[in-house]
Amino acid sequence: MSNLALHQITKRFGAVNVLHGIDLEVRDGEFVVFVGPSGCGKSTLLRIIAGLEAASSGEIRLDDRLVNSVSAADRGLAMVFQSYALYPHMSVRQNLAFGLENIRMPKAEIEARVMEAARMLLIEPLLNRRPGQLSGGQRQRVAIGRAIVRRPGIFLLDEPLSNLDAELRVVMRAELAALHERLDATMIYVTHDQTEAMTLADRIVVLRDGRVEQVGTPLELYNKPANRFVAGFIGSPRMNFIEALVDRASLDVGGRRHGMTGIELAPGTPVTLGVRPHEVDITDVEDGTLALEITLVEQLGAETVLHGKTHLGGNFTLTSPGQGRFAAGDRVGLALPSELHVFDAQGIAITPR
Ligand SMILES: Nc1ncnc2c1ncn2[C@@H]1O[C@H](COP(=O)(O)OP(=O)(O)OP(=O)(O)O)[C@@H](O)[C@H]1O
Ligand SMILES: [Mg+2]
Repeated sequence: MSNLALHQITKRFGAVNVLHGIDLEVRDGEFVVFVGPSGCGKSTLLRIIAGLEAASSGEIRLDDRLVNSVSAADRGLAMVFQSYALYPHMSVRQNLAFGLENIRMPKAEIEARVMEAARMLLIEPLLNRRPGQLSGGQRQRVAIGRAIVRRPGIFLLDEPLSNLDAELRVVMRAELAALHERLDATMIYVTHDQTEAMTLADRIVVLRDGRVEQVGTPLELYNKPANRFVAGFIGSPRMNFIEALVDRASLDVGGRRHGMTGIELAPGTPVTLGVRPHEVDITDVEDGTLALEITLVEQLGAETVLHGKTHLGGNFTLTSPGQGRFAAGDRVGLALPSELHVFDAQGIAITPR
């Protein structure tokens, strides 16, 4: 186990700045997930921590020691790549042992570590096969096993499940969570899948365009998103956004009123309201704060997802429990909850709940 501290990390590729001063502390044994859209700098940041890429400026500390100029091999970290990067001509056993043989570890110790990892990952029967003779999930386990045998201070995982089909991802996600428990290891995990982030993380770091937007536990981010970007990124289906105007003790939502206290903004100030899909109640068209014309109905069995257009012209998605009796073309009203997420013109949360 190890802890990690990043201070004002920047990264430039030629003239392009991709990381703009990242600060972060990861505690011993913590499972931290970097999440954000494609190209926001997740892999670059992970590779800088690993020592595979040099930061342009800033400090990287491992267990309170500055490691900027320490090579990847000497940082005591192990990285699992999206591509697995297994050696195709070697058996699973050789793939697991290779890194340890390189550092001239005694044979008996290598054998013990390989067997321990194989047992933990349920790949003992596969030790004599080659990667080409394994399923995606099995290859994935070998890649993780190769990290485990090194007993790293920190596991760095870059989208390790993205090559797997949806069902296997869910299984492997649970296995990873269990493995984290068992190893009591510090893990830093990169994904652009917010569900993976929500289910695995002790803390999530939301990145956007090379900056940290917010750091917090999954529920902190879900319940109190600091801004519109985080609000829209965390939670599925996505949060809905509605334009409104502050109007004394209420809000003006496209000509309809929504009573709301606790907003201390001048009447006439434009705001954006954030509403999660399960937070609205369906009413008669005239009674809702929003009128919605349903354009698409998705029956999932346990719940129904309704997509539509509001009287303001924006898209809106809501979920209703059970097998709703709605059809495309129906018009309904939507009652908004009394507590809403409110964002200012810059997208910053005004009354985080
Ligand atoms: N070696 C490089 N040279 C120039 N630009 C690079 C290099 N590596 C990455 N970049 C750029 O840096 C930015 C961040 O890339 P990075 O791979 O870290 O994104 P990411 O968040 O991991 O995205 P994804 O989810 O698609 O994997 C991108 O705009 C990318 O094009
Ligand atoms: Mg990446």
